[in-house]
Amino acid sequence: MYKRSDFPDGFLFGASTAAYQIEGHSFGGAGRTHWDDFAATPGNVVRAEDGAVACDHYHRWEEDLDLIRDGGFDAYRFSASWARVLPEGRGAVNAEGLDFYDKLVDGMLERGIKPMLTLYHWELPSALADLGGWRNRDVASWFADYAEVLMGRLGDRIWKTATINELWCVSFLSHFLGIHAPGVRDIRAAARAMHHVMLAHGTATQALRAMGVGDIGAVCNFTYAQPASGSPEDIEAAATFDDYYNNFFMSGFFHKKYPERIVTAMKDHLPAGWQDDFDVIGTPVDWLGVNYYTREIIKAVDGPWPAHTSIEGPLPKTQMGWEIYPEGLLHFLRRCHTDYSGDLPLYVTENGIANPDLVIDGKVDDVVRIDYLARHFDAAKQAIAEGVPLKGYFVWSLMDNYEWALGYEKRFGLIHVDFDTLQRTPKASYLALQAALAS
Ligand code: NOJ
Repeated sequence: MYKRSDFPDGFLFGASTAAYQIEGHSFGGAGRTHWDDFAATPGNVVRAEDGAVACDHYHRWEEDLDLIRDGGFDAYRFSASWARVLPEGRGAVNAEGLDFYDKLVDGMLERGIKPMLTLYHWELPSALADLGGWRNRDVASWFADYAEVLMGRLGDRIWKTATINELWCVSFLSHFLGIHAPGVRDIRAAARAMHHVMLAHGTATQALRAMGVGDIGAVCNFTYAQPASGSPEDIEAAATFDDYYNNFFMSGFFHKKYPERIVTAMKDHLPAGWQDDFDVIGTPVDWLGVNYYTREIIKAVDGPWPAHTSIEGPLPKTQMGWEIYPEGLLHFLRRCHTDYSGDLPLYVTENGIANPDLVIDGKVDDVVRIDYLARHFDAAKQAIAEGVPLKGYFVWSLMDNYEWALGYEKRFGLIHVDFDTLQRTPKASYLALQAALAS
């Protein structure tokens, strides 16, 4: 494992979580979300698990912040739940919800931890889902209004603010592949969600700037697209995947246009007037967050767009079945810097590995996680050496949590959570990072 001193002065290390995955959504007057609805629908989530209790962070947040401080982390990336702040998505505020985030942020500052807040990490209030959710253009102003309410209370103490986590997942994964809430499989819904999520990002960014909030960033996820063969069909299929997954959102933010391949495939489904929204979508941000985990091997197939499938690759895999491919992180750090974000500071806002960790004699020996992180830190070091303005690295995740459609079985944490007793046990990876960050 690296030492802190192997990285440039001021380079930050942090850990990441998200509200619905850890808090326990049944507490504190939070409103219903589309993840509660999705999980309550048979077949969507493994064992139909939901975020009702999760890690009970809502009640155990002090213990969790102590663990962040004791690990030696500089910053903590967390999210607020829209429906905890505004149970109906708009209108009446849940004072208890705002109070919770208020004391959470103060708790970070008291412990010397920099708060990096994500405004939206996937649990849309059900009342807004009823109105079409991300398919409805009005979501942009609903989101900006929520951002104003939340930041009106917290904005004076937040270190950095991210608008929407992983726009590809919010739109394509959830409305075209149907794997996440609301579980829609429809190209028209997907095209609308893809555009509206961009518009919501830009609208909220402008609203926050007008309030004097600074240091606003976008956080996107990237998956390396490896053609299954050298055939022109497989190469084109991988390029298509690369465009709708990796380039669509970056190109919108930084070039104020969408990739040609995607416009060609989706133009009949994009909302009217989409071409006129790029001044809002391209509102300058202050930093870019890169979430990176793996690559996919893309093979062309016959059938409707995007006419490809992912096949199993040869590399060692994580508990998610994801290939371990640190070269992809280096690739995207270089590419974001060169093709999109230029000299803006970059952060790895998520990177980590799921592993079936067990507590044995009070210890969790997750050597594979230590190895995974060391190999991805190599990629980060290499990017920095090449001049990429990478300023920090957040491990996903602080603790085992609700892995969405896969429930509680997939363990991404540096800290083990026993979901019966809710006991936290720092894993060997946490202890290794703690030692590294102290040296
Ligand atoms: C990305 C998401 O932001 C997070 O919520 C999820 O748990 C991790 N990746 C792992 O899949």
